[in-house]
Amino acid sequence: MKLENRKILLGITGGIAAYKSAELVRQLQKSGAEVRVVMTQSAQEFVQPLTYQALSGHPVYTDIFDGEVDSAMDHIELARWCDLMVVAPASADFLAKLNAGYADNLLLTLCLANKHPLAVAPAMNQQMYANAATRENITRLKSRAVLVWGPAHGEQACGDIGPGRMLEAQQIAHRVERLFEPGKLDGLSLLLTAGPTREAIDPVRYISNHSSGKMGYALADAAIAAGADVTLVSGPVALDSPPGLELVRVESAEEMYQAVMPRAPKADLFIACAAVSDYRVEQSQPHKIKKSSESITLTLTPNQDILAAVSALENRPFCVGFAAETQDLENNARAKLERKKLDLIAANQVGDVSGGFNADQNQLEVFWSDGQQSLSMASKADIAIQLIDLIASRYTDARS
Ligand code: PMT
Repeated sequence: MKLENRKILLGITGGIAAYKSAELVRQLQKSGAEVRVVMTQSAQEFVQPLTYQALSGHPVYTDIFDGEVDSAMDHIELARWCDLMVVAPASADFLAKLNAGYADNLLLTLCLANKHPLAVAPAMNQQMYANAATRENITRLKSRAVLVWGPAHGEQACGDIGPGRMLEAQQIAHRVERLFEPGKLDGLSLLLTAGPTREAIDPVRYISNHSSGKMGYALADAAIAAGADVTLVSGPVALDSPPGLELVRVESAEEMYQAVMPRAPKADLFIACAAVSDYRVEQSQPHKIKKSSESITLTLTPNQDILAAVSALENRPFCVGFAAETQDLENNARAKLERKKLDLIAANQVGDVSGGFNADQNQLEVFWSDGQQSLSMASKADIAIQLIDLIASRYTDARS
């Protein structure tokens, strides 16, 4: 019973996915949790509170002024009572109000009064999810440590296909269970690189690549959730800093090297997810190069390999590399594993494929000296959780 003695406050907002939360109540209870339910006015247009009263075995809370439902539990008491709040489904309207700090219904008031973890499972039409306002709300909620679970991609009640479906009850229940598991990286320090580097040609031009930092930032999130103390050395990206870590911003490969090397001997684990430029311009110009009709030649000189340098340290952390390959994935990745003397390498196919650089999804083939595991195509958040799990178990094996 993974959730024995855990108290979960489940918020339900208006949406066709509201019916799925009945199964969620059942799954959470099956794992041993006590569940109490709060419904907004519009959620009640989709499912009767009586359904949730019967399933949870407790009165359903709907109104901030309804002291008669359960006089012992006013809204502050309810927020204090729970170990975790989960809002599923979380509509676009609810997310917008939560972001803005509204408290004009019981559920929003509870969210403001709650000091425990809060998770939301968005569910809405794919166009509403893609809207810049919704994306901004979600990004800002994440930066305030609200856990955003989903949405899934698929067919929607309105007939559209795209991201916006609420995760299945079992997937949400599984994430709740994980939240209460002792962290697999508890007490360990992790140094992580992410994003691209920029190699200056002159003060206004540079050589770089298509890395967005999404994979590395998802790994940082997953490692924090697993209990690690994370330092993220990041090249220039358009992502917000995940909460709860030390962020070191750099531009060039040389700056990344300088940021990583003094920190590496103190780290238990090192993951090199950054797409570091292999070369820099030998002589970057102090002033903007003037246009002319002549061709120009840039001489490129190799950068230091940060991952290989960390792996060669006497007091080295457990080293995980990435391999971005356009061909012969396994042979190239295994060659890097050996050459750089790594503990593990996560290889992704890049180029004209659906994962890899700047995509929201990825798939990985992970190799180590005597084994391998495939992580099939999923969101970078899901892939990161699976990879951190795998790294944690390989790390434990290596140390035992
Ligand atoms: O950032 P996203 O848009 O989410 O995309 C994710 C990703 C495709 C960038 C990521 O999944 C990935 O593959 N990162 C590694 C990219 C890369 O540079 O691969 P590589 O095969 O060229 O390098 C091998 C390893 O050596 C990598 O761990 C790299 O970080 C490291 N390296 C390389 C060169 C160098 N000078 N120093 C290094 O540490």
